[in-house]
Amino acid sequence: MTGTVTEITALGADATEAAGRELAARLEPGDVVLFSGDVGAGKSTMIRATMRELGVAGPIPSPTFTIGRSYEEPGQTAPIAHLDLYRLGGLEGEDPGLLAEYFGPDRITFVEWPGEAEVELSEMATRIGRVAIDHVDAGSRRITVGPLRPVKS
Ligand SMILES: Nc1ncnc2c1ncn2[C@@H]1O[C@H](COP(=O)(O)OP(=O)(O)O)[C@@H](O)[C@H]1O
Ligand SMILES: [Mg+2]
Repeated sequence: MTGTVTEITALGADATEAAGRELAARLEPGDVVLFSGDVGAGKSTMIRATMRELGVAGPIPSPTFTIGRSYEEPGQTAPIAHLDLYRLGGLEGEDPGLLAEYFGPDRITFVEWPGEAEVELSEMATRIGRVAIDHVDAGSRRITVGPLRPVKS
């Protein structure tokens, strides 16, 4: 089911986590999933739940200040990377190899705040997916999970 768009209203963080677990079931190595949404929307909450479902057992700290983190423990479905590009902005003018270690056909990569870098990030994917999370109110969010589209090489 790569072509479906799901749109849900998540009542509370538990529902965001459930959406993250559902996403995990659709993912395979080479996938890059871009997460957009304001600060506090629930991007990290959903990604952590997805990563747990994919077998990450240890702490999953925010990568805001490190740009990216890799998870390569035995017991995971695949190596995983979690990036937060909020502080980086676009990739224009950056060394093209800067983020290379976080992407690859054997790896699943989650990116918060893809921003200006969407095109470059897509080029590093086998399949690209997008999740948008919008604040509805303090107790709920609108979560839109797009299809995982194959990227032409
Ligand atoms: N569906 C939801 N309804 C209400 N609160 C939510 C929902 N999903 C997540 N939250 C809460 O919102 C906050 C989101 O924080 P975080 O995941 O760090 O956001 P982001 O990474 O988008 O900045 C957390 O406190 C989380 O518990
Ligand atoms: Mg976050």
